[in-house]
Amino acid sequence: LWTTTNIIEDSITRIREQVGDDEVLLGLSGGVDSSVVAALLHKAIGDQLTCVFVDHGLLRHQEGDQVMAMFAENMGIKVIRVDAEEYFMKQLEGEADPEAKRKIIGHAFIEMFDQESAKLTSVKWLAQGTIYPDVIESAGSKTGKAKVIKSHHNVGGLPEDMKLELLEPLRELFKDEVRKLGVALGLPHDMVYRHPFPGPGLGVRILGEVKKEYADILRLADHIFIEELRAADLYDKTSQAFTVFLPVKSVGVVGDARRYDYVVALRAVETIDFMTARWAHLPYDFLEKVSNRIINEIPRITRVTYDISSKPPATIEWE
Ligand code: XMP
Repeated sequence: LWTTTNIIEDSITRIREQVGDDEVLLGLSGGVDSSVVAALLHKAIGDQLTCVFVDHGLLRHQEGDQVMAMFAENMGIKVIRVDAEEYFMKQLEGEADPEAKRKIIGHAFIEMFDQESAKLTSVKWLAQGTIYPDVIESAGSKTGKAKVIKSHHNVGGLPEDMKLELLEPLRELFKDEVRKLGVALGLPHDMVYRHPFPGPGLGVRILGEVKKEYADILRLADHIFIEELRAADLYDKTSQAFTVFLPVKSVGVVGDARRYDYVVALRAVETIDFMTARWAHLPYDFLEKVSNRIINEIPRITRVTYDISSKPPATIEWE
């Protein structure tokens, strides 16, 4: 019988047989797949697992700390956090083109990961959160985003002399099975059922040139939006929701004072496969509340807009 418990036990046996006493390295992103691999490997081989978590400074509000709290502190997994915000910001300086930004982020990510993992000389295996749809996708697609996603998510280009063997324990599983596995392994429900988050993170949600100042403002606005979605029980009814930073200024008033500051757009979609999507018809009262909170609580934002574009022709992300 193909139950979650069976899958876990079966995976653990296979992992132990495969790696024996060897050390395993895992790139932990905080996303569902790599998180489930971390929990599974930790259960199977304990301290033989070391995770490298590259924090590119383009994560959501407090996400880096949450990853460390959960995996390092709560679960006792060995996690090396690479605080690379400054490096990524420096690399991104002056670049406004979406695909160029993706490339820079992907490249810097691999660089940081390689640099850190090169120090772990006794490692023999590289674990990845590849799931079944990834296997199909990379077999089928020749161009386009699927490939970009892969090149960013599944870290490649490790130093030649490391010669790591690949360990992909989720390779035969679909997303919903991976999620069930995660919950059964003790990961929090909210984490396992979180909306997808792109590898380049806020880098593609800040239009044009990325700046730390913009990322800091965006994180706060996005946090308010997500917090309110959860409070209103709307989070699980939308497939993906987030905030986009627009680097344009607009006039507003607070009391007698004139304000001239930034604009954000709220984006929420309903979709099954993310290939097509409908903009979520969120209640006006809800949108009003989110807008008021963002403008009142974040001094640098004067205006909130709601994106009513469906896919196609608009993509889900703005870049
Ligand atoms: P679009 O914007 O193409 O997004 O409608 C479809 C889904 O893919 C995610 N996405 C990405 N994920 N790296 C990723 O890992 C990327 O560069 C990337 N671009 C888009 C997007 O969040 C949505 O879920």
